[in-house]
Amino acid sequence: MDNYLELFNKVKTLTLEEKASLVTGYNTWFTFPILNKDIPSLVVSDGPNGIRKEIKEEDVANGFSNTVRSTCFPSLSTLACSFNEETTYNVGEALAKEARLFGVDFVLGPGLNIKRNPLCGRNFEYFSEDPFLTGKLAASFSRGIRDKDVGLTLKHFALNNTENHRFNGNSNVDERAMREIYLSQFKMAIDEGRANGIMTSYNKVNDEHASENPHLLVDILRNEWNFEGLVMSDWGGIKDRVKSVCTQNDLEMPGNTPLNKKRIIDAVNNKKISEDLLDLCCIHILNAIKETKKENTYNESILDEHIKVAVDAAIDSAVLLKNNGVLPLKNDKKYLVIGDLFKKLRFQGAGSSQINPYKIITNEEAFNNHNIKYEFAQGYYDFDSEGTKQGELNIELINKIKDYDTIIYFGGLTSLSESEGFDRETLELPYNQRNVIELLSKIKEDDNKEIIFISYGGAPYIIPHENIFSAILHMALPGEGGGEALAQLLLNVSPSGKLSETWLRDYKDLPFNEEYGKTNEEYYKESIYVGYRYFSTIPKKILYPFGYGLTYTTFIYKELNIKEKEDSLIVSFKIKNTGGYKAKAVPELYVGKEDSRFFRPKYELKGFKKVELEPGEEKETSIEVKKDYLKVYFTDESRFVLEDGRYEFYLAESLKENILTFSYKLEGEKVEPHYDEDIRNIYFNPAKLTKLTNEQFARFLGRKLNEPIKVKKPYNMETRLSDMNSFIANRVKKAIVKSATKSIVEASKKKPKEDRINDEKSINFISKSILSNTFRSLCFSSSGMLKEYTANGLLELCNGHIFKALKYFMKKE
Ligand code: BGC
Repeated sequence: MDNYLELFNKVKTLTLEEKASLVTGYNTWFTFPILNKDIPSLVVSDGPNGIRKEIKEEDVANGFSNTVRSTCFPSLSTLACSFNEETTYNVGEALAKEARLFGVDFVLGPGLNIKRNPLCGRNFEYFSEDPFLTGKLAASFSRGIRDKDVGLTLKHFALNNTENHRFNGNSNVDERAMREIYLSQFKMAIDEGRANGIMTSYNKVNDEHASENPHLLVDILRNEWNFEGLVMSDWGGIKDRVKSVCTQNDLEMPGNTPLNKKRIIDAVNNKKISEDLLDLCCIHILNAIKETKKENTYNESILDEHIKVAVDAAIDSAVLLKNNGVLPLKNDKKYLVIGDLFKKLRFQGAGSSQINPYKIITNEEAFNNHNIKYEFAQGYYDFDSEGTKQGELNIELINKIKDYDTIIYFGGLTSLSESEGFDRETLELPYNQRNVIELLSKIKEDDNKEIIFISYGGAPYIIPHENIFSAILHMALPGEGGGEALAQLLLNVSPSGKLSETWLRDYKDLPFNEEYGKTNEEYYKESIYVGYRYFSTIPKKILYPFGYGLTYTTFIYKELNIKEKEDSLIVSFKIKNTGGYKAKAVPELYVGKEDSRFFRPKYELKGFKKVELEPGEEKETSIEVKKDYLKVYFTDESRFVLEDGRYEFYLAESLKENILTFSYKLEGEKVEPHYDEDIRNIYFNPAKLTKLTNEQFARFLGRKLNEPIKVKKPYNMETRLSDMNSFIANRVKKAIVKSATKSIVEASKKKPKEDRINDEKSINFISKSILSNTFRSLCFSSSGMLKEYTANGLLELCNGHIFKALKYFMKKE
C-alpha cells in the first residue's frame, strides 16, 4: 500500500468512537460516513451478474422489489462454461461501468466457492468445481472491474458449500484440500486479478467462524498472501466483533449494531485489544474509499450497449451436449416448440444476486425476430411444478405433435427450484416436466421424430430419457439477452462452451452423497477428490464430464512442443478447423503425475484457451503453465512444493477425448509426505474412498471431530430457527417471515400477474432462508431493524421464558 503513511495519519485524527463507527456499516449498502473528517460512505451493491442497487435510499432494508433496471449478464456458473478470460473480462468491465453509473463503489462478488455438491442451492452463483478454472476466470472478471477503478469482494471466504447450514455449519476439511481446492482460486484472483476485497462467509471452518478465523484471515490471507485490501463480513456474518477485529476483518456489514460498536470501544478501553488493530481496519477501509470513490462519467446509453455484451457472453457460454446433425436448424422448416421456458426466459437465479433486468429478449421474441417458423404448445407451466394442469396440456400436445417431424423442447430447472438460502432436495426435474418428457419418449417410440432439448438451469440435473433427444443445447442461465443468443446459436453461430462441472447419471455416484447437508458438521472426507478429480480417477459412468462440449465443426491438434522458460512451461501446438463451420476451439491442458509421493487425481486442469478458426484455417497457439500451478500442498511442512520428476500432460478437447499426451521432466524437490497406512491405502485408491470412516478422517485431520448439534431446549443464539419447534417458536417464526416478506407481497399485489416472477422468487428465497438463520445472524443482518436485545427476547420467548423475554424487550441499546 503506497499511501499507507497518509492513511495512517488520517486515522490518527479519528476518535475511538469514530473508529468504531467506521468499522461498523451504516446500513445495508453504505459504510459509516464521518463527514466532519471528510470521510464519505463507501457504497456497495450486489451482485455478480448485474447491479442490484436500491432506487430509494430509504428502501435499504428491503432490497428486493425496488431496484434499478440494470443489465442482467449470464450467471457466473454460465460464464464459466465460456472457458474464455476475454468474455469474463468484458462482463466485469461492463458491470463496473454500470456500478459507476448507479453510484456504486464496490461490487459484492464474484462468488468463488467450489461446487462440492451439485445440490448446493447457490451453485449458479459460483464458477466451477475446479479451482483453476474458477481462479483464472475470476481473475479476468476482476481485472475488468478494477480497470474501471471499481472495487469488488471475492466471496464467500471460505468453504461455504451448503445453503441449508450456511449460518450454523462447520466445514471440516484437511489442510491440503483447503489450500488446493478451496482457497487457491481466491489467491489467483488477488494475484492475477488485483481483487481488492474479500467477503468472509457465515460458516465455521475447522471449528472457527470464518469471520474471525485467525488461520484463514491472518495466517493465510494477510501474512502469506500479503493481502492489503478490504475484508468485510457477509451480511450478518459476525459472531464476536472484537475477535473479528483482531483477525483483521475490517468491516461489519450491514452493521448498524450499536452493541457491537460498544464492544469494540470497551475492548480498547479495557486494554483487551490494542487500538493499533482497530487502526489497521480503518486504514483498509479508507484505502478502499480512496481507490474506488470516483465521479461517474457514464450515461444510461451504456445499458443499450451492454445488451450486446450480455448476448455475446451467453453465446460464448452455451454448451452443445449432443447433436446428430439436426442443429443448426434449417431455415425453411416449421418446428413445434414446447414449454413455458420458451415464452418466459429463465435467465437468472434467486436471492441476493437477483436483479431487475434492463431489457429481456425472450426466446419467443428472438424466434419471431429471426423468422424461425414454429407453432407453440404449452407443455407445462413453470410455476405449476406439481402439474395440476397436465391433463389438458398433454391433450393439446398430442394433437399438435402429429404434424411435425422436429420438436424443440424448452426445459430444465425452473424459477423456484434453485436459489440462495436453501439447497435443492433432488437432482430430478420437477414433476410436470418429467411428465411431458415421458410423453415425448412414448411418441418417439411410435414415430421416429427428432427432438431438440434447449436446457436451462444454474446447476446440473438428471435428464430423463436422455437418449430420445437428437440434440441438447444447454443455455444455463444466459442473462437478459438469452433469447437472442439462442436464436443465433440455433441458426448459424457454432456453440463453443464447455461444461464447468460434471453432470452425473445418478446422485448416488457422488462420494458421501448421503451425508451432504444432513447436519451442521460437514466432513469433507473426499479431500481433494472433488468433481472430475474423483470421476476421472475411478471407473464410474457419468453423463457428461467436466470440460465437455461440442461445436458444429471438428478440430485437429498437432505439432505439440514444450519449452521451459524461467518459472513457466510454454506448451505450443497447432489447431486446424477441419469442418465446415467457423467456430471456436477450446484446447484444455490437464497435468498429472503418476509416480507422485502424494495422492493425486489422474489429471487436473492447468491451462486452457479459446481460439476462433474459419473453416479450413490453421493457427499456432500456446498455453503458459506457471510452475507454481503444478505445486502440491505439503501439509507436513506447511508449504507448497514442486515435486521432482516426470509429469504427464494431456492436451484434450474435454476429459472425454484425450487428443495428445506427452510427458516432461521437471526439476523440483524430493519430499516424502507422511500418511497413516490405512489412510494412505484409501486416498491412493480413490475407488475405496467411500470406505473412509469418520474415525479415520479425524485421524487424517489430526483432531477430534465434533458431534453434530442435536437441538434441544433451551435454544440459544446459535440455534437455527428451523430447528426450533416449540409452540411459541413456530408462532414467532411465522411472524418473522410475514414481516420480512410483507413489503414485497404488498408491492407485488399492485403488479400484473405476469410481472410477479421476481417477487415470487424473492418471497420464496426470504421465507426459506430466514429459517436457516440463527437469532444472532438474523439480528446482525437486519441493519438495525431487529435489535440485539429484541432478538435475545424473542429467543427467550421461543424457550418459553416469558419474564426473561420481557426483561430483554424493556432493555435499551
Ligand atoms: C449474501 C451475500 C450478499 C449479501 C448482501 C448475503 O446474504 O450471502 O452474498 O452479498 O447478502 O446482499
